[in-house]
Amino acid sequence: MQKSVESPTKMVSTTEDNEVEMEVPKARFWDAMDITQWEGFWFGPGLLKPAFTFRSSFHARDDDVILASTMKTGTTWLKSLSLCILKNRDDPKHDMLAMENPHFHVPTIESTLYSTKPLHVDIYDASGPRLLHTHLPHAVLPDSIKESGCKVVYMARNPKDTLISMWHFFNSFLRPDREPFPLEKAVDCFCSGLHQYGPFSNHVAEYWLESRKRPHKILFVKYEEMKSDPKGQVSRIADFLGRPFGEEEQVDEVLWRCSLERLRNLEVNKNGSVLLNVPNTSYFRKGEVGDWKNYLTSEMEERIDQTIGLKLQAIGLIL
Ligand code: A3P
Repeated sequence: MQKSVESPTKMVSTTEDNEVEMEVPKARFWDAMDITQWEGFWFGPGLLKPAFTFRSSFHARDDDVILASTMKTGTTWLKSLSLCILKNRDDPKHDMLAMENPHFHVPTIESTLYSTKPLHVDIYDASGPRLLHTHLPHAVLPDSIKESGCKVVYMARNPKDTLISMWHFFNSFLRPDREPFPLEKAVDCFCSGLHQYGPFSNHVAEYWLESRKRPHKILFVKYEEMKSDPKGQVSRIADFLGRPFGEEEQVDEVLWRCSLERLRNLEVNKNGSVLLNVPNTSYFRKGEVGDWKNYLTSEMEERIDQTIGLKLQAIGLIL
């Protein structure tokens, strides 16, 4: 069993008015990096402070759109689609996705400290409508996001595919010249929730339950439904964001521009890195539903189903 919550470490939480020193539990992720726990979730190196700042300093506006997801659930796809729906629809010749990686156009708020180049806008100060993303759990979102009229779109994915995607992602840049991290141990970490923005089940459950309570506020999108009914789902997102498509050709155009094949082959995504140490290529792999079957043993499958799967089923969520 992969385990390793260590003794608490001291963190300074900055609020608008003061700084509060607090102790947060610490653990090692994959023998490679320290992660720290806050409000029941684990955060990668350096991410807690920006998370505190986001929570205390971000004033959402009614016309903001906030995308949310935990890791490896299709964030890059959701960012690309939302960008096309909201900011790059009327002039397809001005192809924003061909100019920069989606993670540059739609920054993940708490990760901007890893940006390799200055963002277009000051995310705390830009005029609306802003299109931003966060990996933060729902419970720690700034109150203004919860209370204002801004909309939230959450992308969820099957836990086993998420885990396999995460395993490839971290192997590709944490262990480029080494054997992959043992999958057995990666399953342990995932089932114990010891990974960035984990536990997975709690992250997904919070947004799911909230989306049931406030469907006009949070749209819950499943990666698998995006794959099986892309036109229906992208239209659903556009309707929710108040930018319905007039014609079917527009839907086709957006889906094509955001397709994995096209994005992967764009020059901007074949090279470089918008986030420190994360090559742009690493965001685009197979994009298949059920790829986990090529990797997980039946014991591993059973373990994930019995922990994460059952927890989600208990709240009526099948992923
Ligand atoms: P796989 O590793 O299973 O291939 P995230 O964007 O949250 O990091 O998630 C990454 C996963 O989304 C990867 O899954 C990746 O291949 C897939 N993905 C990236 N861009 C996509 C797109 N345009 N369409 C569908 N899937 C995409």
